[in-house]
Amino acid sequence: TVIVLDFGGQYNQLIARRVRECNVYCEIFSYKTDIEKIKEIQPKGIIFTGGPNSVYLEDSPTYTREIFQLGIPVLGICYGAQLMMHLLGGEVGTAPVREYGKIEVTVDPSAKLFREVSEKTICWMSHNDYIAKAAPGFDIIAHTSDCPVAAVQNTEKNLYAVQFHPEVLHTQEGKKMLSNFVYQVCECSGDWRMDSFVEESIQAIRQKVGKGKVLCALSGGVDSSVAAVMLSKAVGNQLTCVFVDHGLLRKNEGDEVEAVFGPEGAYNLNFIRVNAQERFYERLKGVEEPESKRKIIGEEFIRVFEEEAKKIGAVDFLVQGTIYPDVVESGVGGESTVIKSHHNVGGLPDYVDFKEIIEPLRDLFKDEVRKAGLELGIPEYLVFRQPFPGPGLGIRIIGEVTAEKVKMVQDADAIWREEIANAGLDKKIGQYFAAITNMRSVGVMGDERTYDYAVALRAVTTTDFMTAESAEIPWEVIGKATSRIVNEVKHINRVLYDCTGKPPATIEFE
Ligand code: XMP
Repeated sequence: TVIVLDFGGQYNQLIARRVRECNVYCEIFSYKTDIEKIKEIQPKGIIFTGGPNSVYLEDSPTYTREIFQLGIPVLGICYGAQLMMHLLGGEVGTAPVREYGKIEVTVDPSAKLFREVSEKTICWMSHNDYIAKAAPGFDIIAHTSDCPVAAVQNTEKNLYAVQFHPEVLHTQEGKKMLSNFVYQVCECSGDWRMDSFVEESIQAIRQKVGKGKVLCALSGGVDSSVAAVMLSKAVGNQLTCVFVDHGLLRKNEGDEVEAVFGPEGAYNLNFIRVNAQERFYERLKGVEEPESKRKIIGEEFIRVFEEEAKKIGAVDFLVQGTIYPDVVESGVGGESTVIKSHHNVGGLPDYVDFKEIIEPLRDLFKDEVRKAGLELGIPEYLVFRQPFPGPGLGIRIIGEVTAEKVKMVQDADAIWREEIANAGLDKKIGQYFAAITNMRSVGVMGDERTYDYAVALRAVTTTDFMTAESAEIPWEVIGKATSRIVNEVKHINRVLYDCTGKPPATIEFE
């Protein structure tokens, strides 16, 4: 195991993921974790992440110096690098020139960290502070034109620090550097695989649950499906899956989910469908603010579960298919800032009467969840389904949610998805959907003036849903979908295409 100590950077889970890509198990811990806990784990290596602070400010996150005396290799990244230098007697200050973006770095290829890395290599930099002077015992092994100390090493103590971010793809040879750290420096064996993750998770769940009863929130999306099947492998009949149709699903989706996971399907999940459309619409009446909508949908969900749980009898555990990007963007997973309060994460009402929540996919990225799904024998067409957010169409209807708008967005979305599939683009695009804007505008239909809604089409390419680019869809495909939507869907007279990437937008509209 390699552990990542989280000091609040945005890319921390990416570091863990890159290490797992080297077939080395990796987990993230807060910088508040006690050193005794780390000694217990006996990791083969430790990585300090970046973070938004300056090390010399009083309440910046820090760690005990003892960590460098355990004989465990440490790699500091960005803030982590500065912190290591600061703690070990180097100097950190405001950089005379702030570096941001892709910067050419000159490295010393004889250093273990840079084995087989080009001498001049493009790295991603994002820092205001810099290492003005390396700590005693450290050699400088990389620099840029503005940053004399871009990387340092102390080979005797196995301590390494880099100012740039090897975990982001913009650092062209970053993967190589991290793999050098785990293999050359930490001497990891690299025998961790997704099948062992699945096997270990099943064992751990079995142990935790014992003879307890488990209730799973199944939405039919990739994450909850993988979580449900994993649970069913672990505890079989002790599991009941409840599927809440909140009336905010895609067109015909409720029936499709029931067909796959219900009693007629291939899995034994004790599947219960709850049709709760009316309650959700009622509670959403007049609510426009995105975070309020998300909270209402999330809370109502929990209430429906509670009621179901009461019918079933005592339930000990609630399973949720939360994955890592949900956790980080909700700001409950680590030290980084809140972007959106994702459904399924945090914010449980106080009166919840389950003993505990199980989230078996909490550390994984979407593509890792998919690998786990395949490992569990879930068919490909389910595993590669595009993601659908927990609050569903509720966050694809900008402003107030009404039954009429749900119908409009469902129909427009179904047409858009059909046209994308007809064009053979469905496997190439990470996520694509329609959202109904809160804007009405004037149009003309036949000889009549119309004053109707505008629908926005969205399609993005992405690998991890943390960042995304607007997909370049051929104009004919957009044109065909547009004319079908305005002709077939009542009260839509305008179609817009969203060209924005993430950042600065998010994938969903709310
Ligand atoms: P954003 O809009 O934050 O979305 O760029 C990133 C990915 O997360 C999905 N998403 C959610 N998934 N519960 C979920 O399970 C949520 O509340 C939620 N909100 C967004 C979104 O569809 C995209 O794939």
